[in-house]
Amino acid sequence: MSMVNRKGASKALEVYLKSLELIPGGTQLFSKRPDLFNIDAWPIYFSSASGIRIETTDGKVLRDMSNMGVGSCVLGYADRDVSRKVMKVIKSGVQSTLIAPEEIQLAERLVEIHPWAQMVRFARSGGEAMSIAVRIARVTTNRDVVLFSGYHGWADWYLAANLSKDDQLGAVLLPGLSSRGIPKGLADTAIPFEFNNIEKFRKLAGKYKGKIASIVMEPRRSEKATPGFLEEIRQVCDNEGIVLIFDEITTGWRACNGGIHLLGNVLPDIAVFAKAMANGHAMSAIIGTSEIMSGANSTFISSTNWTERVGPTAALATIEKYQRNSVHEHLSWAGSRVSKGWKEISTSLGVEIDANDGGLPALSSFAFKHPYSRGLDVIFCQKMLQRGWLAHNQFKPSFAHSKKDIDQYLDSFEEVFKELATLIKTDEEALRVAAATHPTASLPRLTK
Ligand SMILES: Cc1ncc(COP(=O)(O)O)c(C=O)c1O
Repeated sequence: MSMVNRKGASKALEVYLKSLELIPGGTQLFSKRPDLFNIDAWPIYFSSASGIRIETTDGKVLRDMSNMGVGSCVLGYADRDVSRKVMKVIKSGVQSTLIAPEEIQLAERLVEIHPWAQMVRFARSGGEAMSIAVRIARVTTNRDVVLFSGYHGWADWYLAANLSKDDQLGAVLLPGLSSRGIPKGLADTAIPFEFNNIEKFRKLAGKYKGKIASIVMEPRRSEKATPGFLEEIRQVCDNEGIVLIFDEITTGWRACNGGIHLLGNVLPDIAVFAKAMANGHAMSAIIGTSEIMSGANSTFISSTNWTERVGPTAALATIEKYQRNSVHEHLSWAGSRVSKGWKEISTSLGVEIDANDGGLPALSSFAFKHPYSRGLDVIFCQKMLQRGWLAHNQFKPSFAHSKKDIDQYLDSFEEVFKELATLIKTDEEALRVAAATHPTASLPRLTK
């Protein structure tokens, strides 16, 4: 990586550079790598987090106006109500030889919120939950092929898409994902299609007719489904006995209490949740109709740590608080206020951006429209940090973001955009240099 031996590195950066020798990739989640933002300025490590405040290991206190734990902390960091219940089960034991009753309570809660589903399995991360869902679809249908749209994690079933043709996943979402280490025998088992491209979907559904176990997709993300798109996919699944899996790992508990599909009229056979459902605690769920989920009985899906007690306790507490406070309304309000602010300020200062919430303000983002957009990204990040904000070109609001936080953030955003407008007019060279010295591809394609 080009950043080794960065001159004048902060203490945190020195630790991170050392960690690259100890931890391949420096950390366990690609989206937390500091070179995605600004390797020289990003504070990298936290010592504590509460509400939207993060104290860094270098002793700075910042307010988070970026992605709140990559979308996991929908109530805010260290939410008191969730923590109180979690602390209680920590005191009474998080694991034992017997089963934690909270998992049955959570299963009941999830099927109550999603009345089309009757059965539930649990895991602890999004990617592994997706692997479970795909396994269940394959065993139920006795077929192998998965047609999918979007990002669904790190597992073999998904990365197999890049075995067939160079960088198929790049065309869909994540460029440059390697398929090394994925058994070549999985070639032609995972085939991507673009969201809202019904023609491509029809072609693939025809080409692989009789072989498709599952269609895997998010019901919505950076764009809404065009009328008829999801309906036609549902119809094809019904006609051909294909399992429709909605990946709600990021969209769940963003627009309503539960999966965003509850707001539409197309239901899946399986839906998968993680992230926001337990407010940052490790928890994920696979819910589905009993007909499909019973397939789990004829394969082997089992793990010790999927039975610990903190995850389901945190999920129950998160869902209870979410529902009691209609948190989705706050998320929508906060996301809309910020993306409206981005648009108004950038337009008035003549800094061109694309700010699109795709009709889902709780997952807002913007992208600079400039040849040196990467340079603008890293300078924006640095100047916002100087003003006490952890900020980049996404905003995933939480219940802990107040009107005052947002208004103060938008004041800083305006100051920084004024400086960026001046740079664009008078010093493009600075943008070119910033882009060249921070070479990582910019973030929006990754997380949209
Ligand atoms: C839609 C979607 N699916 C799957 C995943 C993978 O989840 P995890 O990072 O918990 O493994 C993510 C994570 O960003 C996601 O957004």
